[in-house]
Amino acid sequence: MNRSEAQKPARATPATFHVKSFGCQMNVYDGERMAEMLGAQGMTAAEGNEADLVILNTCHIREKAVDKVYSDIGRLGREDGTRPMIAVAGCVAQAEGSEISRRARSVDIVVGPQAYHRLPDLIEKAGRGEEAVDTDMPLASKFGALPKRTRQARPTAFLTIMEGCDKFCTYCVVPYTRGAEISRSWSAILDEAKALVDGGVREITLLGQNVNAWTGADAAGRNQGMGGLVRALADMTGLERIRYTTSHPNDMSDDLIAAHGEVDKLMPFLHLPVQSGNDRILKAMNRSHSADSYLRIIERVRAVRPDIALSGDFIVGFPGETDAEFEDTLKIVEQVGYAQCYSFKYSPRPGTPAADMEGQIAPEVMDERLARLQALLNRQQADFNAATVGRRTQILLERKGRHPGQLIGKTPWLQSVHVVTDLNIGDMVEVDIISAGPNSLAGETVRRKAA
Ligand code: SAH
Ligand code: SF4
Ligand code: F3S
Repeated sequence: MNRSEAQKPARATPATFHVKSFGCQMNVYDGERMAEMLGAQGMTAAEGNEADLVILNTCHIREKAVDKVYSDIGRLGREDGTRPMIAVAGCVAQAEGSEISRRARSVDIVVGPQAYHRLPDLIEKAGRGEEAVDTDMPLASKFGALPKRTRQARPTAFLTIMEGCDKFCTYCVVPYTRGAEISRSWSAILDEAKALVDGGVREITLLGQNVNAWTGADAAGRNQGMGGLVRALADMTGLERIRYTTSHPNDMSDDLIAAHGEVDKLMPFLHLPVQSGNDRILKAMNRSHSADSYLRIIERVRAVRPDIALSGDFIVGFPGETDAEFEDTLKIVEQVGYAQCYSFKYSPRPGTPAADMEGQIAPEVMDERLARLQALLNRQQADFNAATVGRRTQILLERKGRHPGQLIGKTPWLQSVHVVTDLNIGDMVEVDIISAGPNSLAGETVRRKAA
């Protein structure tokens, strides 16, 4: 593209911003870090297209993501004919690059998930009317360039400990949009966790595309995995709960499994996607585990932590999946018994091997399989919730409910509980679970005897 084509009129430096995140927890985390960085630059948050700068923090995992971004861009125009400065960030930005600003002339900035620490420079460039596209995957990680975490609005926070993926499941774009697996250092993670706790956080969810593949050396130079990291975090005063997501079955180390039996602060919840219950499909997906090896891992986790709640991801209609092979997915769901799950129709992603495989499945077959799978998963979730009625447990109050005096907190098993209480967000409270619905529970705070 020549310069005159790329050049746009100069714009005033934005004073307000709005970040809209569309993707996984890591995408949400990135959105929070971008907002914190812009805040540290003196910008303030604003709503919707009234903001001077709108950042669409996109996800590329399934179909229509790209179309959705273009239609969202179209809706950012204001009634008076002006529009905000528009940045497309996230995994669609990484996958499409400058194609986005070519196709949608109103896009001022395109920035990939490994380059968003450079947003301030890109905003300046865009202000001068220059093309501002950065989809580099620089060797030095963005984390060092981001401002330290400060006071948090909520008592729960995400913390990315590793990024990228080397697994190359044949259906998945993540290895291309996020790059190779890179673990953050032990000290960087503990420092960020400490800053979050100092900022009022009591529960941290460690994030990674394969979070349990994290490795690093501890302060004494010893090699550690996720198990060691979890134990170190559990020693941090003020941090009450630790969670992690998403894990890959092949990275469920003995030490991490043992930690589930030993570390009280590590919550009894495991999101461990299996994708399919059929070995031929798992092989075609390049998952490098079998249905049986997955079940054995679950058995080992349950042996040390019998009350662990399990969650997973499933794909129906992978190319070539027969009815009988799909039945194996229902079978493994019956065998495991999940507390909650995500299930998706296979979506061919450009550039991934599965998109070119023979035997692509007709949409109506996928619809039918997804409906059957979801009916089963919903039943399991409702059963799991119903089984907690009558239990006394602790919840961490996270946010306001819809009714006056009502707050919502999570059980150790990640269920939302509604309670009426005069306690505050951020408090840990003991409740009796009195009723259960498909998606949440109702609780009553336990009255303490006067001392
Ligand atoms: N790293 C995680 C998952 C990342 S993507 C893991 O391996 O478990 C989240 C989920 O999206 C995947 O687990 C998978 O179930 C689903 N997914 C990924 N690519 C998909 C595709 N092309 N079509 C449908 N679902 C997909
Ligand atoms: Fe995608 Fe597979 Fe990597 Fe998960 S493990 S991010 S599904 S390639
Ligand atoms: Fe989506 Fe990228 Fe996350 S594709 S799922 S935002 S890693």
